[in-house]
Amino acid sequence: MQLKYAVSYIVIILACLIFTNIYPIVSYRDMLFDSKCASLKNQASLIASSLTPLSSLRSEEVAKVMDLLDVMELERIIVTDGEGKIVYDSLAESGNIGKYALFPEILRALEGKDVFYSRFSGGAISSRACIPVINEGKLTGTVYIAENDAEQAALISSLRSNIFKISAVAFAMAVLLALVISRVMTVKLRSILGAIRSVGAGKYGHRIKVRGRDELSQLAAEFNNLADRLQKTEEMRQRFVSDASHELKTPLAGIMLLSDSIVQNDKMDRDTIREFVYDIGKEAERLSRVTQRLLELTRLENKKQVGLVPTDIKKVVGEAMKILGPLAEEKDVLLESTLDDGCVILADSDLLHQIIFNLVENAIKYNNKGGRATVLLYKKEKEVRFIVDDTGVGIPEESLPHIFDRFYRVDESRSGEQGGSGLGLSIVKDAVLKLGGTVSASRRKQGGMRFEVVFPLYEGSVQAGRRGEDGRE
Ligand SMILES: Nc1ncnc2c1ncn2[C@@H]1O[C@H](COP(=O)(O)OP(=O)(O)OP(=O)(O)O)[C@@H](O)[C@H]1O
Ligand SMILES: [Mg+2]
Repeated sequence: MQLKYAVSYIVIILACLIFTNIYPIVSYRDMLFDSKCASLKNQASLIASSLTPLSSLRSEEVAKVMDLLDVMELERIIVTDGEGKIVYDSLAESGNIGKYALFPEILRALEGKDVFYSRFSGGAISSRACIPVINEGKLTGTVYIAENDAEQAALISSLRSNIFKISAVAFAMAVLLALVISRVMTVKLRSILGAIRSVGAGKYGHRIKVRGRDELSQLAAEFNNLADRLQKTEEMRQRFVSDASHELKTPLAGIMLLSDSIVQNDKMDRDTIREFVYDIGKEAERLSRVTQRLLELTRLENKKQVGLVPTDIKKVVGEAMKILGPLAEEKDVLLESTLDDGCVILADSDLLHQIIFNLVENAIKYNNKGGRATVLLYKKEKEVRFIVDDTGVGIPEESLPHIFDRFYRVDESRSGEQGGSGLGLSIVKDAVLKLGGTVSASRRKQGGMRFEVVFPLYEGSVQAGRRGEDGRE
């Protein structure tokens, strides 16, 4: 990854540098070539137009015209006649007069074409212009001008070498910087990757040290949050599994113990056997209750919050109390209720039933003989309150913070007697949270407990429907 980053940076920088090396030189050179061509063209045209009146180009006449023209600062001027024979050469010592000119530019001009160009050669800018001389539509000769500019060429060369030197330094710095930046970036990525691998391998406590506020730091912070949640869930899962297996193990051990004693003791009397079998039945009942509760919990956890509908709590309370009536009678507990109308909340009646049933069942189970369990339901502002009071044994202050924990029982032997699994209140809590409410427990001054559930009141279409009905009435 680091290599990829570094190489990409270097390639980008290299491309920029190549561009800055080539572009200014090329555009300056083109500009220079254009101006050279234009100047040579002007001068060639001037000479050609001065020679145009001559019907044929001869050495003496051309020399005379050239003397008048004062174009001697040009490096070389050659004038040929219509057949390409040199009639004038500014380089007098060349001894070319009378010879055929063999320059390709002159050969092209003899065909009637203008030739202009500039190029680098031999450390100088060599520019050439060659144009035909036309007299009354007849080609009478050509004018050839050559110029070599070493000064400008040297300027371009030094410009080029300067830009190159600057680019080389810039490139070296950029490479260094690219290596540093890519290292810094990949260090963070590497630490995130390492953390993901550690957590993936089961080290849930692994966290990334977050520095800075860039996207990678945010990613690291998000990862830490995720790992926190994962760790919490994992701890909960492990605790749940160990608690659940413990809860299942205890009644199973009891059953095994009791059945073993019956099998191994030949002389056991009928009544003892009956008592042992009765105990086995009790343990099996407890086992079945625990598994049923565990199933309920799993169902609750998997239940999505969708499908909540406006539900009148009074109806669900009525049903739950009907089911619990026989238990209250058996325990000699007076079950009474004051239920207001119109306590509608957004709920799932199954969840609501779990809440009501578990709270009222506890109020009966953990009560005294001749005690009372009171259920209250009323609206208060934008809330619906569901309260279960009892005159029972109560819960000690120090146990109150734990009663909604899974498998928590205040007094193992007492709850065990009642066949409790310690899951009822945790089911209540989960269900209440799913319905957007809160649940709390407090000790009553007169003795016994008060469980209070507060739900947000539903004020939607049910009330609107009522108004509609009223309207019809
Ligand atoms: N109204 C109450 N009065 C006194 N103690 C209570 C009351 N409600 C709950 N408790 C105590 O809190 C513990 C947890 O209650 P919870 O309903 O979660 O479990 P449980 O009743 O033991 O078992 P389950 O409800 O799963 O059959 C109980 O074991 C009991 O000791
Ligand atoms: Mg209970």
